[in-house]
Amino acid sequence: MVRLSRRDVLRHIGLGGLSLAMAATGCDTQEDEKGAHEMEPAAAGPQTYTLPDLPYESLEPVIDDATLALHHDKHHAGYVKGANAAVEALEQARAAGDFGLIKHWERALAFHGSGHALHTLYWTSMWPEGRGEPSADLAAAVEASFGDHEKMLAQFAAATKAVEASGWGVLAWEPVGQRLIVLQAERHQDLTVWGCVPLLVCDVWEHAYYLKYKNKRAEYVDACMSILDWQSASKRFAAAKGA
Ligand SMILES: [Fe+2]
Repeated sequence: MVRLSRRDVLRHIGLGGLSLAMAATGCDTQEDEKGAHEMEPAAAGPQTYTLPDLPYESLEPVIDDATLALHHDKHHAGYVKGANAAVEALEQARAAGDFGLIKHWERALAFHGSGHALHTLYWTSMWPEGRGEPSADLAAAVEASFGDHEKMLAQFAAATKAVEASGWGVLAWEPVGQRLIVLQAERHQDLTVWGCVPLLVCDVWEHAYYLKYKNKRAEYVDACMSILDWQSASKRFAAAKGA
């Protein structure tokens, strides 16, 4: 079984100092357990986006193995390829001084870059049979922001189920207002609040569930909510707060 380290996630996302990269540093690893998980400085210079390995072998029965493999190996890989292609095209545009396709490539960068970042977080938002509980600090933030854990989960699930067309449900830390919020991200990049740090995400593009759940998105979302990885989410929260 291959597990992601914080260093791996930062390298795979390749977003340098962006908040999404910070958000992705909560993966539990054997490295973590040894206490050797201090944030390591990113390698100098821009990083090529790479597809991370899955941190587990299966999420059955919640997500069937065929969907997991296709989702990771084909769909997520496509976003990695698309993000790198956009970066390369923009580099060529700068070199040539030709920005005739600037709108196309900037949109492609936002779409594929966000798709890559969210999928990387998606693999660490669930764990076989679920894992852990919110840390004391995260639990306090949940209570302050939503009233209690059940109200937060109810909003997270309802918002995720109600995403229009393809998108994501996102539980995020919003640093300006110092609160947790739930967002609906349409496609990958629309309807965010800048500066938010995603803690948990749920993919409701049909490719995430249609083989097993067909048109029953709500059943898929409820199943995902039953195996959330609160251990990883708590670490992402601590990183976001600078704790
Ligand atoms: Fe997806």
